[in-house]
Amino acid sequence: MSATPLRLGVNIDHVATVRNARGGAYPDPIRAAKLAEEAGADGITAHLREDRRHITDADIDGLMATLTVPLNFEMAATDEMQAIALRHKPHAVCIVPEKREERTTEGGLDVARDENRLAHFIAPLREAGCRVSIFIAADRNQIETAHRIGAEVIELHTGAYCDHHAEGNFAARDAELAALKEMSAFAHSLGLEVHAGHGLTYETVQPVARFPEVRELNIGHFLIGEAIFRGLEPAVQEMRRLMDHARQGATE
Ligand code: PXP
Repeated sequence: MSATPLRLGVNIDHVATVRNARGGAYPDPIRAAKLAEEAGADGITAHLREDRRHITDADIDGLMATLTVPLNFEMAATDEMQAIALRHKPHAVCIVPEKREERTTEGGLDVARDENRLAHFIAPLREAGCRVSIFIAADRNQIETAHRIGAEVIELHTGAYCDHHAEGNFAARDAELAALKEMSAFAHSLGLEVHAGHGLTYETVQPVARFPEVRELNIGHFLIGEAIFRGLEPAVQEMRRLMDHARQGATE
């Protein structure tokens, strides 16, 4: 397979975390989103949590009004969030777990356990023209279920892979990476578009960026942290460079 372009979605949630630490308006996540766009982000991701711990409803209003790149709106599968998504009709909606009982042990949404409800839940979002993505573990059953309920996209959870890397547990990391690779190919063979994300850093991004079936990476916490040291635009530019380099099959 020849290398298809790999999109970078920058998650700006943790700009809002810093802002909310003081309860004011600074730093503004929308300003961060615009800078990320200028630095080469292909999309912006924001998670409106039920408890509004970082991104707020006003942030989503502002992003929808301001962005020129697509918004990937992350949300739990609740009636409240569905109504907000249907009002804004963002380019993409990514359904994520927020409560412990909605998660698999690997951290993705347990779509297999909640198949019927989720099938009904995503139907109106699809009819409204949103690309519906489901954030799941690299698990065949979860992928098959996501496909069956009508999702167009799955986002594979890279958190365990990144955690094992950070802990120096390289055998477990490599096993997780192998599962991500195999399940990317499997999901692609079903006709699903494959995204990946959670916990990715400069050290962990390249092996995932090399999977030819993966079309988008969503990266937040590390980039916002790195922005403290080198600024947001250089932080995003470096991630973009590493992704592009890996995509061309080269290694550093
Ligand atoms: N993808 C999804 C579905 C997520 O929920 C998150 C975290 O909000 C990310 C990607 C980004 O993860 P991180 O902030 O660890 O890069």
